[in-house]
Amino acid sequence: MYDAPSTTKEAVVTDVKIQANDVQVYYADNHAIKDVSVAIQDKTVTAFIGPSGCGKSTFLRCLNRMNDTIDICRVHGKIEIDGEDIYDKRVDPVQLRAKVGMVFQKPNPFPKSIYDNIAYGPRIHGMARNKAELDEIVERALRRGAIWDEVKDRLNAPGTGLSGGQQQRLCIARAVATEPEVLLMDEPCSALDPIATAQVEELIDELRQNYAVVIVTHSMQQAARVSQRTAFFHLGHLVEYDDTSKIFTNPEDSRTESYITGRIG
Ligand SMILES: Nc1ncnc2c1ncn2[C@@H]1O[C@H](COP(=O)(O)OP(=O)(O)OP(=O)(O)O)[C@@H](O)[C@H]1O
Ligand SMILES: [Mg+2]
Repeated sequence: MYDAPSTTKEAVVTDVKIQANDVQVYYADNHAIKDVSVAIQDKTVTAFIGPSGCGKSTFLRCLNRMNDTIDICRVHGKIEIDGEDIYDKRVDPVQLRAKVGMVFQKPNPFPKSIYDNIAYGPRIHGMARNKAELDEIVERALRRGAIWDEVKDRLNAPGTGLSGGQQQRLCIARAVATEPEVLLMDEPCSALDPIATAQVEELIDELRQNYAVVIVTHSMQQAARVSQRTAFFHLGHLVEYDDTSKIFTNPEDSRTESYITGRIG
């Protein structure tokens, strides 16, 4: 029998949610991602770490085809979610992105009210039968984004009128409102204060009960706190991928060790 781990920090054996094989990404002539293969587990938080420019955001964007929106970007290789090739011609990228939600490095609220920022996705996907149900979805999402108390009295005010940190929490709330199966977060806490960061980290831990979460972070403390698996990228290569505790205490590769001890980056 498999023994239950003693702390939540240890990885448990779960199903593979995303399987990437031999992924290459080019921006014109710049070969930004080189031969990356990785199996991302369901119900697990996976951290992507590595120096600036190593390809973390680029690889993350491959997982919900956000790179499709960048003209000069070409993606090769195979990425499957639940065994389905997400680059197959029959896949609708809009449907894919509802299933694989994303929070970007810079907050990008829609030019709409706070309420409509959250209600937009649930409306499109027919998640509510009436206004009362939609109100409930909006409140629940804003609570999960740790921003409800700050906005509950001005739901009709524009989302773009919030502070940077509030906008980021609004975007997190928007991403979880459609109940995605995978949530991709690109440095979600870089604009947040320590209190909001702690709230978002709690949310991430809650989300992994049901979802696969992939988070890019420059904070090793954050990677160690929130993730069970960690992938270290360097110059477009996936150098090492293992249990977070192993990466931070006993990495196999000298480049990983140099990075986590602060010698490169
Ligand atoms: N939209 C783009 N157009 C052209 N080149 C890009 C684009 N986005 C990224 N790149 C290039 O791809 C490489 C990887 O960049 P990427 O943004 O993925 O790195 P990163 O690891 O997320 O860095 P950071 O930690 O600074 O966010 C870099 O050489 C970068 O210049
Ligand atoms: Mg980035």
